[in-house]
Amino acid sequence: MEASEGAGGRMKVYLETFGCQMNKLDSELVVGALRAAGYELVDDRKAADVVLYNTCSVRRHAEEKVYSRLGADGKRKAHHRPDLILGVLGCMAQRQGQALRRKYPQVNLICAPGQLHALADMIGDLAGPAGAKSAIALDPSRKDARNLAAEQKMDRMDLQRDPRACRASQAYVRIMRGCNNFCSYCIVPYVRGSERSRDPDHILQEVRRLVDAGRTEITLLGQAVNRYRCRAGGRDVRFSDLLERVSAVGGLRRLRFVTSHPIDFTDEVLTAIRDLENVCEYIHCPAQSGSDAVLERMKRGYSRAEYDELVDRARAIVPGAVLAGDFIVGFPGETERDHQASAELIRRSGYKNSFIFKYSPRPETLAAKQFKDDVPLEVKKRRNNELLAVQEQVGLTHHRQYVGKTVEVLVEGPSPHSDKQPRGPQVGCRQLVGRTRGDHIVVFDAPKSLVGQYVNIQVTDASSLTLFAELAPPGNA
Ligand code: 5AD
Ligand code: SF4
Repeated sequence: MEASEGAGGRMKVYLETFGCQMNKLDSELVVGALRAAGYELVDDRKAADVVLYNTCSVRRHAEEKVYSRLGADGKRKAHHRPDLILGVLGCMAQRQGQALRRKYPQVNLICAPGQLHALADMIGDLAGPAGAKSAIALDPSRKDARNLAAEQKMDRMDLQRDPRACRASQAYVRIMRGCNNFCSYCIVPYVRGSERSRDPDHILQEVRRLVDAGRTEITLLGQAVNRYRCRAGGRDVRFSDLLERVSAVGGLRRLRFVTSHPIDFTDEVLTAIRDLENVCEYIHCPAQSGSDAVLERMKRGYSRAEYDELVDRARAIVPGAVLAGDFIVGFPGETERDHQASAELIRRSGYKNSFIFKYSPRPETLAAKQFKDDVPLEVKKRRNNELLAVQEQVGLTHHRQYVGKTVEVLVEGPSPHSDKQPRGPQVGCRQLVGRTRGDHIVVFDAPKSLVGQYVNIQVTDASSLTLFAELAPPGNA
C-alpha cells in the first residue's frame, strides 16, 4: 500500500529501537519496507506523523524507558496532534498486547515481531480515508507458531530487504527465529515464539545480495545461534555446515555470529571457526552464573565444570579465540558464595568483555512464578559493581596483550569523541573507530576516507574496553 500524502507531502515516520541485535535488524527491515511504501523517515519525533517504538521486554528497565516515551507522546497526541499514529512494535507489543492500550489509550498501533511484514499496511489503514481507529497484529501462540503462511511472509521480508537500510559495510542476517530453551528467567520464548531455523538457501541468497551490495561483514543472528539445524535437500544442515556454506560466498571478508549457547558448542563448530578463513574468532557465549546451584535454578542445562571445559576446548581448538560473556547478578537465592563463583568464572575465562545485568523478574517466566525475587536491590547493585570491577581488570589484561601488535580493523566511522583533535600531528586525519576480527574496539587517527575499508594498524596502548593504535606502515601485516 502506498503511503498517504499528508498536507505537507509524504508522511513522516520516527522509529526508535530498544533491545538486542535482532530488534535492530527488525528495525532495518521496517525502515526499508516503509521507505519502499513511500514514507519518509525522520530523526525528530516531534516532527513525525507516525511515532514507532520497536521494544524490548527482557528487563523491566527496558520497558520503563518506552513507558516514559509513550506517556509524553500520549499527552502531545491528546492536546495537539489527534491524528498522530503512535505505535508499539516488537517484544512489548507481543507481551502486553491489548493491555498496552488500556494503559496508554493513545497508542493505536500494536505490532508483534512476527507481524512486521504487515506494518506498512497497518499504518495505511490508520491514515487512509477509512480511518481505522486502531490496528493490532499479534503473533499466534507458540503452539500455532509453525503456521506456514505466516512464516513464509516473515521470511519474504528478510529476503526482500533493502540492502541500503543497513550500515555501509556490515549487515545482520537472521538465521533463526524464536527460542525453545526456556531459561527460567527469560521472556524471549514467550515473545518471539518457538524456535525455527531458516532455509539455508534463503540465508545464502540474502547474504549474496548483501555482499553484492557492498557489505563485507555479515553477522548471523539467533537467540541460540549455534543450535541452528534445518532439514534441506534430504539432509540435516547444522550450524557448522551453514558456516561453511556462508563463508564460501565470494567477497565476504568477515563472518560473525551471535549469540551462542554453551551447550551447542560442538567441536565441529569450533573447528569451522578455526579453519574457515573469514569466520571471526569472536565467541560470545553467555555463562549467566558461575555457580552450579544458580545454573540449575536458571535451567541453563550445563554445570560450571562443563562451562569451564568449553572455555578450555575453545581456547585449545581456536588459536586467538576472543571470548565474551553475559552474567545475571541477584538471581533468586543467589548467595555471596554463588556470587564469588561468578567473579571467579570471569577471571578464569579471561573475557574480552562481559555484559552484566541485575536480575529482573519477568511475569510470565518460570523463575518469576517459582522463586521470590529475594536479593535486595542494594545487594544486586553491589554485586553488579563488583563483577564490573573484576571484568575491568580481566578486560585490561586481555586488551594489553595486543599492545605492540599489528591487527586488521574494519573502519566503522568517526569515534564518538571525534570532535577531539587527533593525538598525532597528521594533517586531514580524524579520530576513527574500527573493529578487529575479535570484536575489539580500536581508536586511531586516520583520514575519513578509510571508513568502510580494512586497514592494518599497530596497537600502542590499551584500556579495559578499547585499543589505541596508529596506522601501520604499508606492507606491515
Ligand atoms: N533479568 C536480567 N537479565 C536478563 N537477561 C535475560 N533475561 C533477564 C532477566 N529477566 C540477560 C541475560 C541475557 C541478556 C540478553 O539479558 O544475561 O544473556
Ligand atoms: Fe529484548 Fe529479547 Fe526481544 Fe531482543 S528478543 S528485544 S533481548 S526481549
